[in-house]
Amino acid sequence: MSTFPDDQAIAEAAASLRAGKLVAFPTETVYGLGADATNPDAVLSIYETKGRPRFNPLIAHVADLEMAETLAVFSPLAKKLAEKFWPGPLSIVVPLRPGHGLADVATAGLDTVALRMPDHPVALALLRATGRPLSAPSANPSGKLSPTTAEQVRRGFGGKVPVLDGGACKAGVESTIVAVDGETIIQLRAGALAREDIEKAFGRKVTRAAKGAKISAPGMLLSHYAPNAAMRLDTAPEPGEAFLAFGEAQPFTGETRNLSPAADLHEAARNLFSMLHELDATGAQTIAVAPIPHEGLGEAINDRLQRAAAPRE
Ligand code: TXA
Ligand code: MG
Repeated sequence: MSTFPDDQAIAEAAASLRAGKLVAFPTETVYGLGADATNPDAVLSIYETKGRPRFNPLIAHVADLEMAETLAVFSPLAKKLAEKFWPGPLSIVVPLRPGHGLADVATAGLDTVALRMPDHPVALALLRATGRPLSAPSANPSGKLSPTTAEQVRRGFGGKVPVLDGGACKAGVESTIVAVDGETIIQLRAGALAREDIEKAFGRKVTRAAKGAKISAPGMLLSHYAPNAAMRLDTAPEPGEAFLAFGEAQPFTGETRNLSPAADLHEAARNLFSMLHELDATGAQTIAVAPIPHEGLGEAINDRLQRAAAPRE
């Protein structure tokens, strides 16, 4: 009595994903809104489709540990966690491997990524057929409940996103997220895998990180990329500053990157993290940022810039 998609449906969904389209798919936790994590435009359509006003780093789903290791470097402890709990509702934050190929917008500019191998036959078949990591937040419009059936996903997006139907999700809550710091396991988000189960399996306490906390230690784990430079928003640059421009820019002799000379917000979002990194790497004390419209992806861009500009401890 399986409602599961057949090989052809999986192959078609995989082809769509490889072509940069979105496909919603079931996992054991909730339905995910999937995009090729190596394609920045595809990942940006996740934001557009969910109407998400904020760029968060996204979990990249993998077919197996081998695919995970092409993307990130696993310490012995991180690898033991994957071996013990994958496939399953555990996302592990690990440092990116050089040449990983993930889109900046998929990691929100961080040098780490949260990876997980979902425990669902349809998700795994799709990941294998696609042969690429898939970014997939819950498949609901921003602010709505996470969906646990294909029907909820269809209704949520008014039928605009194709959905692979894999029946009802077992867990109904998102995966547990952990990071590893030396021999310490830190839980960043509580979820479908109980902390006690990790503690039992590894014979050690799992530290809980406060929401939004920055954990700094060797192997610095920041939940949000923050430039070293101070930021001035919605402004014109002054001598000595670096300038992040948008649209038609006034001539400026300092270090300049233009998010989109054509004033296209999609292009601007695609360039945001890499250009911030580049300007920050010039060693400028301050980055001045041109005004950016607040519509569409502009909302998430402005949110990101405001948080980058916020005073730090
Ligand atoms: O169960 C789940 O995990 C579902 C299903 C679809 O698999 N997916 C899901 O993905 O909840 P997503 O992308 O919405 O989870 C994003 C959260 C971020 O808000 C952040 O808390 C955490 O994952 N995250 C991702 N990358 C991170 C990183 N490099 N460092 C710290 N936290 C990270
Ligand atoms: Mg969600």
